Amino acid sequence: MTTPTHRVDLYAHIHKALRLAMCETLRQLSSLDPADPLDIAATLGQLDAVLDAAQHHVEKENRFVHPAIEARRAGASAAIEAEHEEHLDSIGTLRAEAAALRVMPSAAAAQRLYRRFATFVAHNFEHMAVEESRHNQALWAAYTDEELHALHGRILASVGPQEMSEILRWMIPALAPAERAEVIGGLPPEVQAPVMASARALLNDAAWGKLSRAMGQASVPGLVEA
Ligand SMILES: [Fe+2]
Repeated sequence: MTTPTHRVDLYAHIHKALRLAMCETLRQLSSLDPADPLDIAATLGQLDAVLDAAQHHVEKENRFVHPAIEARRAGASAAIEAEHEEHLDSIGTLRAEAAALRVMPSAAAAQRLYRRFATFVAHNFEHMAVEESRHNQALWAAYTDEELHALHGRILASVGPQEMSEILRWMIPALAPAERAEVIGGLPPEVQAPVMASARALLNDAAWGKLSRAMGQASVPGLVEA
């Protein structure tokens, strides 16, 4: 079981973003109209984006987090590393089924893709819960918060601008207000303004008001005052 902690949690924010992205994409696939080319293009575009995000996430964990765990707790990340191989296989199969649906849309192909993605989401939800419990316990036992902050910084430095903006599109609405302000406040000053502009379109008026106040912005652009 995962409870809020005072320790540095490498998984908390990105997993919230991935869970929201997967839920929204699952909803779009479940309501897809196979006779509507615009719906197919939009839904499969979103599926592509979430599969890209899932693949990048696996690669980051394999490249940065698991070597850190293994360096001080040998064997502790082996089970999750093996599941990552299965996830990459599933991502490949989902991409192939999505490509087939694009070429030849049908209700049967749409239902097959929806059900396969639902199973992928279910596996990912279980998998993320294990990372948030067992992997965090291993990291917290073996590393100080200063070391985990430094590791988090190395992970962030490896994320390109395009990948970062894709992730923020889901992370911003997925986070609690205090987390949202912490993440945006931690970005380099030159990118905070564009991120705030895109946040306005992603948040309702109440959430936007809280973020504006937390970021020290007096005005709330685009909001019609009640
Ligand atoms: Fe993972």
